[in-house]
Amino acid sequence: MKKHLTTIILSAVIVVLAAVLVGILIFLKNQPVQQRATEPLVDIKAYEPDSSKWGLNFPNQYDSLKKTKTNKEDTQFGGSSGFSWLERDPRQVILFGGYGFSKEYNDDRGHEWSLEDVNNTKRVNEKTPGTCYACKSSNNPGIWNTIGLEAFSKMPFAELGKQINEPIGCANCHEAGTMKLTVNNPAVIAGFEAQGIDWTEFSRQEMRTVVCANCHVEYYMAGESKVLTVPWEDGTDIESILGYYENIGFKDWEYPEAGTATLKAQHPEYEFFSAGSTHYEAGVACADCHMPYVRDGAAKYSMHDIHSPLLNPELACGACHTDVEYVISRVNEIQGQVSDTKIAAEDAIIDAITAIKAANAISPNDGALLDQARAFHRKAQYLWDFVSAENSTGFHNPEYALKLLAEATNYARQAQMLAAQSVGNPALLTTGVYYQPPE
Ligand code: HEC
Ligand code: HEC
Ligand code: HEC
Ligand code: HEC
Repeated sequence: MKKHLTTIILSAVIVVLAAVLVGILIFLKNQPVQQRATEPLVDIKAYEPDSSKWGLNFPNQYDSLKKTKTNKEDTQFGGSSGFSWLERDPRQVILFGGYGFSKEYNDDRGHEWSLEDVNNTKRVNEKTPGTCYACKSSNNPGIWNTIGLEAFSKMPFAELGKQINEPIGCANCHEAGTMKLTVNNPAVIAGFEAQGIDWTEFSRQEMRTVVCANCHVEYYMAGESKVLTVPWEDGTDIESILGYYENIGFKDWEYPEAGTATLKAQHPEYEFFSAGSTHYEAGVACADCHMPYVRDGAAKYSMHDIHSPLLNPELACGACHTDVEYVISRVNEIQGQVSDTKIAAEDAIIDAITAIKAANAISPNDGALLDQARAFHRKAQYLWDFVSAENSTGFHNPEYALKLLAEATNYARQAQMLAAQSVGNPALLTTGVYYQPPE
């Protein structure tokens, strides 16, 4: 009897111990990732631009960040080789006619290339303002903190360049010491504030997206000082952004011989993804797909070798999707459709440009109709470019991509029609005059 009781007590103790152990394991599993070393080895000073110093404390993150320099592999529509869009799709030479992007337009590549690529682009000349360094270097947060954004922006590119010697690094995304994710681009902070948003109130999961918005956003250079500004005052959806540009009467350049005040969209991944995409609405963050967790022995860390998730789908998608092959087939489907629709929009815009140029040559000041044609051309170009300059070939928000491209085509055809009407010349309704795709 006594022996029986001992067994019962022992079993109970074992069950309780096992339950406690499982509890502890679940607790540990749900903790944010910890480094193997619990104490920092060296103190990192605020805004430290040199990532190798941070790397002494966090070698896994540092080593994986460095790999963005050696990535070369391409995917069907993206990847890391930095190929020329103008060679791949010569329509874009016409679409950006009269603007720097018609001289050089290369696909984005790894973060470690950022500084070299901006220093070497043909789009930089002696008039280029310092603004162009804004998303290219870990020196910036410290410089902004010292001299402010306006002085930074209006300094000539070459002069500011003397203070800039690091590509994108730890200081662009983390606060030294706490290692918290941060928004340190003053233009983006202002953009959130203009909408009544205090970025410090974003949750940790939201910050895993917002930290990328330091750079992967639409912007323009405001006024004489060329101050970096994000056009978010009325919201981050494209209608609000276009409305904002209308209100301030902004143009990036005037299309030669057509006279259209044209806009250039810049990498609006954040705005595009957050405009109601399935993943955004489900609470998925940029880092979930682009910085999946990887293991190094017992340590689990976020892969800082950021690139196309199609190059490591098991890691990038497999954490949430069991059928990785299926979701990748969906990506291919979506991107193929978006790419075809995008080219149809490009052809329509090129027809609009041809017609407006012709009408303009016949009768440049033909008032209302031709001006309306230009207004539609401006809108078509911007809607198309918003999808085109966003680097996922529609995947970040497939429905939105197709909607914007359909609208762009519609506006372009209306522009062409109005231009033809403005001079009463049906010959201007011809299509495909400018560019014939190779067989
Ligand atoms: C659900 C997964 C997912 C999320 C979330 C996501 N992306 Fe992507 N991203 C992709 C895929 C897939 C591609 C397409 C890659 C390709 O075509 O090779 C891509 C492409 C890109 C590219 C171009 C890469 C290349 O190879 O040229 C950039 C830049 C990018 N994403 C940034 C972001 C940013 C910034 C966010 C958040 C605002 C984000 N992504 C959110 C999956 C995701
Ligand atoms: C482009 C932005 C970006 C850059 C640059 C960057 N990080 Fe991170 N880092 C992140 C994100 C996003 C996370 C995930 C944070 C989270 O889940 O809360 C992260 C997480 C971390 C963590 C927490 C552990 C982990 O791996 O999840 C450490 C430590 C870290 N980074 C160190 C560094 C160091 C060191 C550098 C420079 C060598 C660096 N990071 C550069 C965005 C960045
Ligand atoms: C400090 C500015 C900055 C921040 C912050 C930043 N990026 Fe980038 N990102 C860039 C620039 C600039 C490039 C293009 C570099 C080049 O082509 O030289 C780039 C390129 C990329 C690419 C293309 C890489 C390839 O190999 O094709 C991806 C994907 C990407 N970023 C995703 C992210 C994600 C996800 C985040 C947030 C976790 C993020 N970026 C944060 C500036 C930034
Ligand atoms: C952090 C989790 C997470 C990651 C990582 C993730 N997804 Fe998803 N994905 C989701 C959720 C949640 C949904 C929405 C499911 C639903 O509502 O039924 C979704 C939906 C989808 C859908 C269906 C979209 C639609 O509109 O019907 C596709 C396709 C997809 N994901 C592809 C991918 C690809 C490709 C990757 C990797 C590049 C990826 N996902 C990474 C969580 C994730």
